[in-house]
Amino acid sequence: MAGNAKFDLECEHLSKHFSDFTAVDGLNFNVEAGSFFSILGPSGCGKTTLLRMLAGFEFPSEGEIRIHQKRVNELAPNKRPVNMVFQHLALFPNMNVAENIAYGLKRRGVKAAERSAKIKDVLSRVGLDGSQQKQIAQLSGGQKQRIAIARSLVLEPRLLLLDEPLGALDLKLREKMKVELKHLQREFGTTFIYITHDQSEALVMSDKVAVMNRGRFEQVASPQQLYYQPQSAFVAKFVGQTNQLSAVVVEQRQAVALLKTARGRHLIVETDVQQRPQTTVDVFVRPEAIGIAKAGEDVKADNQFDVKVEECLFDGASSTLMVRDQHHDELYRVSPGADFALQNIVVGSPLRIYWNASQARCITKEVNGES
Ligand SMILES: Nc1ncnc2c1ncn2[C@@H]1O[C@H](COP(=O)(O)OP(=O)(O)O)[C@@H](O)[C@H]1O
Ligand SMILES: [Mg+2]
Repeated sequence: MAGNAKFDLECEHLSKHFSDFTAVDGLNFNVEAGSFFSILGPSGCGKTTLLRMLAGFEFPSEGEIRIHQKRVNELAPNKRPVNMVFQHLALFPNMNVAENIAYGLKRRGVKAAERSAKIKDVLSRVGLDGSQQKQIAQLSGGQKQRIAIARSLVLEPRLLLLDEPLGALDLKLREKMKVELKHLQREFGTTFIYITHDQSEALVMSDKVAVMNRGRFEQVASPQQLYYQPQSAFVAKFVGQTNQLSAVVVEQRQAVALLKTARGRHLIVETDVQQRPQTTVDVFVRPEAIGIAKAGEDVKADNQFDVKVEECLFDGASSTLMVRDQHHDELYRVSPGADFALQNIVVGSPLRIYWNASQARCITKEVNGES
């Protein structure tokens, strides 16, 4: 089928079966040229299998893969305009930086003078000017990452495939590399396909994120849409922290539904789906969407009630309170921001919590889905 020039990658009905197990299940998606696209999902959901099909290390059982409008299903890995960065980077420890970067260029028959020029240029673009003669062992973890990426980008692939490249790094370096990877992607303008099980990596770096679960994409959207408009319970729970309440629909007027939780609390929620009375739904409210006030104070919010603090978890800006709705015996996680440290809240304090109808998400319960 004809491709669309807007996209560097198009997949149609793409599946991979291993005997009777389906690792990748009928994916249809496109990736815009020059974008940072992440595939986010728990371990075992099929991310690496998908990436290996794109790279040509694994043949699809069904479907078509087009890279830059050209079907590549039958092409060997080295004939595809793609390059892969692995978790363990796979740099050659016995070669210096220039030799590592030169390796792929040599295999393509690029002449020595042109190789040196390209190596010089790519090193300067990844911020490692003049490090041609350094040994790999002399480099820091972050520098090794940059060399691994330089080695791939110097070959000017259409797609750079990255399989959890930050997985082996410690937390500090990982935070720093998130920013650097995003910057490198912009600088080179290459399409990045980045797989990870870490939601914060995906949210921070990506233009679009596909949330993968059991071989399928649950939602493909911008980080903001995933966070604020999750389309399934799985996405709501996998991306960020959230409170989840089981409820039934009492009635709906236009976009506002009145719900009753399993424990009997009435809540008002905005919804873009027409919900019939008695439908079972899950309500999701982000901890930071919940405001706190003095117990008994009328704060003019759609949903408000008094609670008792059970746990104060001080962690700077992301501090959390665990509070219980004593009438209905429901526990809520609330993240009121840094200012709550100033408010003398202790375990046992009474408080009022509140949020507006537009700040909660109502998702019809999946019959056989995640709970
Ligand atoms: N060569 C294979 N043969 C059989 N099963 C496989 C093979 N490769 C992967 N799988 C299975 O496919 C599923 C998805 O694996 P993988 O793509 O590695 O997931 P992820 O990268 O998301 O952790 C897993 O259940 C895994 O055991
Ligand atoms: Mg994997």
